[in-house]
Amino acid sequence: MIVHVTDTGNDMAYRAAEMVKDRLVKYPDMTLGLATGGTMIGLYRYLVQMYERDIISFKSVVTFNLDEYVGIEASHPASFHRFMYEHLFKRIDILPQNVHIPDGMANDIQAECKSYDYAIKEHGGIDLQILGIGLNGHIGFNEPGTPFGTTTHVVDLAETTRAANARFFGSVEDVPKQAVTMGIKNIMQSRSIILMASGKAKADIVAKALTGPITPRVPASVLQLHPQLTVILDRQAAASMPKDYFDCSFVA
Ligand code: F6R
Repeated sequence: MIVHVTDTGNDMAYRAAEMVKDRLVKYPDMTLGLATGGTMIGLYRYLVQMYERDIISFKSVVTFNLDEYVGIEASHPASFHRFMYEHLFKRIDILPQNVHIPDGMANDIQAECKSYDYAIKEHGGIDLQILGIGLNGHIGFNEPGTPFGTTTHVVDLAETTRAANARFFGSVEDVPKQAVTMGIKNIMQSRSIILMASGKAKADIVAKALTGPITPRVPASVLQLHPQLTVILDRQAAASMPKDYFDCSFVA
């Protein structure tokens, strides 16, 4: 694991964008795993800027998003389909057929999970997966208690997750109770991972996930076992990391 600590959340986003750019320039037809949420907004803004300046192109890139709510239309203002479209896809040259986001409106949701796993496999797996982390340690929507062997599946969202995401819906009552998410096994099978976190609210869970016991109670703790994990934190999110930790793994 390599941990980068930046001054601000904006610097965190820029650092992540630079890493994605370097990879895209080298492997223009890569398969990219994407996340949604507040942490990703700056990253996508920088990627759009790089695209507009002709530094990168998404013409041959295939994407797989981590998750989507069950029971809301793609056009719903708070759906992850809509988030991706507004923040990234409508601003770049990605081909619509290369974009994959779980369908939370599928009639047969179990079949949808299976076909999502199949599509990932068919594209040769994910080269680089971008992750945020929930306040309870979730990655994707794999909430605490999710076995590490899971593939794409339906989850009951934790109340803390619904409360945290109420800001996108207006009220917590409007946040769906379930979501479809790639499983921890899918995430761990990615060839490389960038985990991003910013802000002091994430400090304790980041320290727990990266330096505490590896347990399904803290889903992100499994990432300690990934051979190609890069973590990008701003100073606030890094504040609870043990002081001696950076002696061996800190990269400024
Ligand atoms: C969303 C996702 C989630 C978020 C996490 C952090 O696709 O996979 O795991 O990354 O909930 O969300 P923010 O960035 O809003 O704090």
